[in-house]
Amino acid sequence: MKFIKHISSLVTVDAQGKTEKIGAEMNNIGEIHDGAILFDEKIRFVGTTIAALEFIKTNNIHPTETYDAKGKTILPGFVDSHTHIVFAGNRSSEFARRLRGVTYQQIAEEGGGIQTTVKATRNASIEELFQNGMKLAISAMKHGTTTVEIKSGYSLNLLGELNQLSAIKLLADELPINIKATFLGAHDFAPEFKNDRDGYVDLICNEMIPAVVEQGIAEYCDVFIDKGYYTLEQGERVLRAAKEAGLKLKVHADELADVSAAKLAAELGAVSADHLLFVSDESIEALKQSQTVACLLPGTAYFIRMPYADARKMIDSGLIVAISTDTNPGSSFTENMQLILSLSVINMKMTAEEAIVAATLHGARALELSTIKGSLEIGKDADFIICNCDSYTDIFYHFGINHVESTWIGGNKINY
Ligand code: NIG
Ligand code: FE
Repeated sequence: MKFIKHISSLVTVDAQGKTEKIGAEMNNIGEIHDGAILFDEKIRFVGTTIAALEFIKTNNIHPTETYDAKGKTILPGFVDSHTHIVFAGNRSSEFARRLRGVTYQQIAEEGGGIQTTVKATRNASIEELFQNGMKLAISAMKHGTTTVEIKSGYSLNLLGELNQLSAIKLLADELPINIKATFLGAHDFAPEFKNDRDGYVDLICNEMIPAVVEQGIAEYCDVFIDKGYYTLEQGERVLRAAKEAGLKLKVHADELADVSAAKLAAELGAVSADHLLFVSDESIEALKQSQTVACLLPGTAYFIRMPYADARKMIDSGLIVAISTDTNPGSSFTENMQLILSLSVINMKMTAEEAIVAATLHGARALELSTIKGSLEIGKDADFIICNCDSYTDIFYHFGINHVESTWIGGNKINY
């Protein structure tokens, strides 16, 4: 067993056996001063250093490694429940155009945007996709992410989507980071079906979903239901086909306009509805009546200069609010969850405590992992980060830098 003692600020998140925290409960993150943890691949003890020393004595434990974390903060590892880190190519020239005033939607209408990445991704081998994903996943771990969801959706044809999902599987086999895969064939419409969008929906339902399920390489199916992308009807067709085939659901919902996508997600029992920049009160009510997580992605609002999602309203309405990076080459090119914490408190008016819960326990909830991850409690996975500051507040106060000194996954310190 390993032992870390004298932790200046130990943030447990204090889930108390629950898989989520609602409303004001999000402000309780169970901070322990002069804290300690004992762990192997799981957390075996959490409390004060004095109590830990007593526990060690009573149970005759001989720690194999002991660390002193005076001056440090320990938090559960971040669970980034929405990313697109497996892709090829680069959209920096489109980004430069956006800085000159062209909008994200204008670039998409010209045939750029997602389609630019589709061209590059279709031309890439599984190995290249794996290598690209590897760089971003390693960087994510160095910034404190211990679990990540990764979507396909940049090939938009059967073989290419399967290749992307294979690259995700290789990453899961190769890296210590925990990975969940999502099939996002309905990210945009394949260029071959530009004038027959419903034909592409047929292809997704009749060929792609069955192949993905047969290969067992994705757990979730996601659809981009929004203005200019999938209509509510098209989205519903894909989601129902996926559900019937045994995939669980996620939805890119109401990012560019309110199209009631979040309401549909709630009605279909989706695990999460993501983005929600323009979500209506009616959809918020539908989410409240469901178990669907509201996953907010402030990096996107920042990067494409959109109004931020109304996190305050959603938390105060009792939704299960998570935050994630949405790492992708077009609308949010960052894999740094600490930046997402900063954006959440400053621009979405969340408290530091709410942001931490949203990035840990609720991220895990959005990946159905919150019984084993997302808080530091006995029996849960020993996924945590050691930060170079003596209070969790400093992670927000001193912004734009990497506070993570080391990232631990399943009780082991990662060496990258
Ligand atoms: O989550 N909203 C749709 N998809 C991505 C953007 C993808 C891209 O621009 O490449 C998103 O924001
Ligand atoms: Fe996304």
